[in-house]
Amino acid sequence: MSWQEQIGAACDLDALESIRVELFGKKGYFPAQFAKMKSIPNEEKKAFADGLNKEKAELEAAFEAKKTALEGAALAAEIDKERVDLSLFSHLEPAGAIHPISHTMNEMIEYFTSMNFSLQTGPLVEDDFHNFEALNLPQHHPAREMQDTFYFKDEKLMRTHTSPVQIRYMKAMKPPFRMIAPGAVFRRDYDMTHTPMFHQIEGLVVDEAHKVSFANLKYILEHFLTHFFGDVKVRFRPSFFPFTEPSSEVDISCVFCGGDGCRVCKQTGWIEVLGCGMVDPNVFKAVGYENVSGYAFGMGIERFAMLKHRISDLRAMYEGDLDLLEQFK
Ligand code: PHE
Repeated sequence: MSWQEQIGAACDLDALESIRVELFGKKGYFPAQFAKMKSIPNEEKKAFADGLNKEKAELEAAFEAKKTALEGAALAAEIDKERVDLSLFSHLEPAGAIHPISHTMNEMIEYFTSMNFSLQTGPLVEDDFHNFEALNLPQHHPAREMQDTFYFKDEKLMRTHTSPVQIRYMKAMKPPFRMIAPGAVFRRDYDMTHTPMFHQIEGLVVDEAHKVSFANLKYILEHFLTHFFGDVKVRFRPSFFPFTEPSSEVDISCVFCGGDGCRVCKQTGWIEVLGCGMVDPNVFKAVGYENVSGYAFGMGIERFAMLKHRISDLRAMYEGDLDLLEQFK
């Protein structure tokens, strides 16, 4: 192969560099050729040198051209290798989802805030006064047994319901107002439908005497329940709570059997969903309110979530089982 052909055939810059050394390097072709000058007769020297210089100039030009071409190709290959295809999906991180309990709570909050209820919170660690005493549950009152309380050594306790937020709010504010207080509550309970920590939403409306009636309470709860569950029947049953008088428990027609009777509703066709009533005068007295009227209600968020999503074992909600939670995306 001629030198020109060799340069032309060089497949990369390394190969071209070896050819350069062979041609122009100290021990290469051209130094060797120029060394021959010494032994050439004087009259031939010029022709020989001219021929050699011409050849050298041609090969240098071929070398530079080839080098430029190979460098261009190497750069193009490099760019091609590093190219980012923005239309390709990268490795996708699994997307999270709102927990069904939070989702249900948000939905309930949304309804009541849209009805002009303000959103309130209170401490999870409560004292006897707010959790019981001020709610007309004096010491040794048998109704305290209804709520299996977690006590601390120092008389503090984990709130057993969201009703203490009623007391804190009334002590801090003046009526008229309407508020809800969602949050975690704690009871010593653990089975298919009870966990030691669960959530409630408290509702409280207070205005001047005679302005707030049981009819108002009935209206808002019926409206809320049909908004939340769709086409269900709502029934108010007389009941007892120390902090309301009169008191009522509210049932909806069973969402599983439509009211015909099934295992879930224990063949009654009804499912209890909340407690409510007119605020007991003793509660108003405990917070220093006079000449007012009001209603209150409290509902378990887990119960609403279970009924809406047909979850039969509440405990599963708190085990963090991703396969289960995935279904609520
Ligand atoms: N605090 C009650 C409970 O936990 C619910 C309730 C709230 C009932 C407000 C009446 C009025 O069971």
